[in-house]
Amino acid sequence: MTAPTTHQKLLEWVSEVAELTTPDRVVWCDGSPLEWRRLTDKLVQAGTLVRLDKKPNSFWCASDPTDVARVEDRTYICSADEADAGPTNNWMDPLDMKVIMTEQYRGSMAGRTMYVIPFCMGPLTADKPLLGVEITDSEYVVISMHIMTRTGSDALALFGEDADFVRCLHSVGAPLKPGQTDVPWPCDRTKYISHFPEERTIWSYGSGYGGNALLGKKCYSLRIASVMAREEGWLAEHMLILKLTSPHGTVHYIAAAFPSACGKTNLAMLEPSIPGWKVETLGDDIAWLRFGDDGRLYAVNPENGFFGVAPGTGWNTNPNAMRTIAKGNSIFTNVALTDDGDVWWEGCTDTPPDYLTSWRRDDWTPASEDLSSHPNSRYCTPITQCPATAPEWDDPQGVPISAIFFGGRRATTVPLVTESFDWQHGVFMGATLSSETTAAAAGEVGVVRRDPMAMLPFIGYHAGDYLQHWIDTGKRADTAKLPKIFYVNWFRRGDDGRFLWPGFSENSRVLKWAVDRIEGHATAFQTPIGWVPGAKALDLRGLDPSSHFDIRQALAVDHDEWRAELPLIEAWFATIGDKLPTALHDELEALRHRLD
Ligand code: GTP
Ligand code: MN
Ligand code: MN
Repeated sequence: MTAPTTHQKLLEWVSEVAELTTPDRVVWCDGSPLEWRRLTDKLVQAGTLVRLDKKPNSFWCASDPTDVARVEDRTYICSADEADAGPTNNWMDPLDMKVIMTEQYRGSMAGRTMYVIPFCMGPLTADKPLLGVEITDSEYVVISMHIMTRTGSDALALFGEDADFVRCLHSVGAPLKPGQTDVPWPCDRTKYISHFPEERTIWSYGSGYGGNALLGKKCYSLRIASVMAREEGWLAEHMLILKLTSPHGTVHYIAAAFPSACGKTNLAMLEPSIPGWKVETLGDDIAWLRFGDDGRLYAVNPENGFFGVAPGTGWNTNPNAMRTIAKGNSIFTNVALTDDGDVWWEGCTDTPPDYLTSWRRDDWTPASEDLSSHPNSRYCTPITQCPATAPEWDDPQGVPISAIFFGGRRATTVPLVTESFDWQHGVFMGATLSSETTAAAAGEVGVVRRDPMAMLPFIGYHAGDYLQHWIDTGKRADTAKLPKIFYVNWFRRGDDGRFLWPGFSENSRVLKWAVDRIEGHATAFQTPIGWVPGAKALDLRGLDPSSHFDIRQALAVDHDEWRAELPLIEAWFATIGDKLPTALHDELEALRHRLD
């Protein structure tokens, strides 16, 4: 096959990789519907995908049961200097890592096809489009990249002769001997997800799972982009972007950072429970924030699709996600398959079907002890199919952000919503963000860990430098033009374990209070931790007062709980070490003082 480009460095890199990995053939991807058809057919034949009868052009996929989530302990930031990776990342010397991984890659694509996927993160019409090329031996990766990125000929056209691009190399690490039959989900027990920030290069080996294998997503748009953003004075963040329109037609754009599986996709597609308010979606996972000429922060979603957590997604929790996937053209990974060719997962409908094929490919009935779907099972679907997608989602200028929300999953201590005193205090809130771990990453579930700006697994450099960059960002702008920062917690529980706040569509009441604060017509109490609304300040009309939720408790600021939080914050700051911005030390001392 002749290469569809004259970009010399790209051509050289592709031949180098082919020489090392020895695939049977090299295919340049064009992103066309025909390519999608060819590869999905191939994957159906291989047993990787099952074509769904009940959703057009959609597929069920079950991964190897050991390859179901991001592998943070196998994820490396290979900066030249160890100090640049910081205490929160795994580090290895780039040369050492390359020696190890080169041996892993040697012959790793034997018996397979090597695909070259040119892609663009963010609008194709951007002034300086951010380009990448993923080389992979996985057809599943190719079709997922069709959905999640702007890929193919349109993207390749932007490369010209010599445009810069991020090199993304991926192999599932499962070479085939002549005549050897393939398994439905090839992968290797050994896994490496390595980033070389100085070279803008990503090497991923051994996993086919989304966050480890779709390299445009977390690896490029967060880990590598966060390094670029720091150098160039912008922010690459783990944030949704939504548009909130009031009954009067006033528009505010809000960005929100919550850790994995803590409600970004849900909030991004929210259907407000309060009459007259409207939420539209611009992104559900990643935001790039840059200052505009007017001094405001503008957000762009670099992605082209949603890679959303399936369990818990249903008509009662996220109807817009249900409408999006109902249109088809989607891939469902590690959910259950129904008898009549549809997908199901816990929370999809109130009552499960009588019989399912589980994500482990076992027979499943409602009497089965195991879950039908993996807790981190995902749907992958185009953003353009979402009926709530805002028309400006593809605007290369982005949208001006009025508010930034930080939020985590905390059963205690953290109130439903708190407004920061100012930018620096808001950065302190983000820096001390904490959450109980979820199934989105391998490891124990339910342990409280600090997750600065929900970026702990995604900061491509030293966490202390990252926090300093956030402080500095606030100094580069006119205070009045900076977004206001809020801290939310939908997950606080009563002593009996029930949620204190109904969440989901009712979160619109919190959004409304936040924009009312921005516009200067909502009240709040000044507390040691920030501005917190009383129950009367929230619009609770239409909320069933006899329900088992407890709004007062959800909003309570318990000084004892917060005093108990201080040593935890201190311990977290100690792990960041010398590079912790002094401004954040000051904020901690100020909080301690206010609690006395
Ligand atoms: P990633 O895509 O992994 O980055 O995660 P995400 O932040 O997009 O998470 P998502 O929106 O998919 O949230 C997943 C989980 O959060 C599901 O279990 C939801 O049921 C739960 N969830 C979302 N919003 C709420 C809420 O307002 N209240 C409660 N109690 N649970 C919620
Ligand atoms: Mn995410
Ligand atoms: Mn999500």
